[in-house]
Formats: sequence, C-alpha cells, structure tokens
Amino acid sequence: MQLTHASLPYAYDALEPHMSRATLEAHHGRHHRAYVDKAKVLAKEIRMDDMPLEQIIQQAAKNAHQRDLLNNAAQAWNHAFFWRCLRPDGGGRPDGDLAKRIDATFGSHDEFVDVFTRTALGVFGSGWTWLVIDGPGLAVMHTPNGETPIMHGLSPLLTIDVWEHAYYLDYQNRRPDYVAAVMGHLINWDFAAQNLARPRLAASAAGPQIWNSAGG
Ligand SMILES: [Fe+2]
Repeated sequence: MQLTHASLPYAYDALEPHMSRATLEAHHGRHHRAYVDKAKVLAKEIRMDDMPLEQIIQQAAKNAHQRDLLNNAAQAWNHAFFWRCLRPDGGGRPDGDLAKRIDATFGSHDEFVDVFTRTALGVFGSGWTWLVIDGPGLAVMHTPNGETPIMHGLSPLLTIDVWEHAYYLDYQNRRPDYVAAVMGHLINWDFAAQNLARPRLAASAAGPQIWNSAGG
C-alpha cells in the first residue's frame, strides 16, 4: 500500500443508516486525510515517502525519534484497512476456511462476536480491535491509539475503529450501539476471507505487503 489518501470503496452515504454521510465525510475526508498528509510531510523529511506504507511503519517502529511518523503512518494504514472492512449490506457470517477457523478458535461464530465486541467495548480511550491470524488459529486483540498489528508482524483480517471520531456524530457516547451496528450490518466478511488467503506478513520476502488497494 502506498502512502496516499485513496477514495472510499463506496459512496459517502452508502453505509446509512448505520454510519452516516456526515461521519464518513469527517472520518475519511478529514481525520484520515490529516494522518496521510502529516505522515507524508514527516516521511519526506527523511526521504522515506516513496517506500510502501508498511515499510515506513516497520522502519519508524524501530526508531524512537520517529514516533510522530509512526503514529501518523500507522493511522493512515489502519484507516485504509478499516474502510475495506465495511460494506453496504454487510454483517452476517463468513463461510469456508474462515468460518472453520473461527469455530476452532472461539467455539462458534456467536462466541467470536461476543469476544470481539467485549474487546472493542473494553478499549479504554482511543484504539482499535482486531481479528488477526495467530499460528494455525485466530486471535482477537486491541491496540491503543494509532498502534497497528503490522508493527508486530501480525496479519489482520478485520478491524473496528473505536476512536470516538468513528461514532460520535451517529451514536454520541453509545459505543455498544456503534459496535453492534458494524458487526450486524456493515462488517465485510469477504474482505476478511481475502486477507486470510493472502501470503502472511512475516512470510513475505518481497516486502510486507499484505493488502493493497489495487488488489481489493
Ligand atoms: Fe478513525
């Protein structure tokens, strides 16, 4: 993935009534854009702006002096990934290998949703909840603020942004209602299944590109 502010894969009003045009215009059009713009300025200062975004993140994570770049680059990546985790008429259940792995890891789809939801509601302050590949199984994890699993060599399948800017316009402080709406109506299981089928982050000798906008 390059460090660019790509368009959403759907219209700004496509996720209504669960996520409004106003939320997406602010979240994608302003918050996400600001992370990309800031990361570009900081990456350019150290001549890293031509690198794939994943490489910028992994390089910056090794250098304590590049914390500001890391935070903004990671947020640029997290948001680009998050938009693909949503779709109009989403929700439902996965099938195939992904469904088998969810059942094997969590016991059932409903138990996975319960763990994922409780983790998202338990994030104190701002952060993200993720479904990631964990060996032969899967795991749910949360990251604070702008931290991303790819800093740790983990390959995510899905995420939900639980920063207040993701839901405040539509749900005020009712994070449970926002998480329920995303899981019930917006989550894109096809995207998660595509991520499961991709080469793993740590196993990619050519570079840590686990997802790109051209590949869907
Ligand atoms: Fe966000």
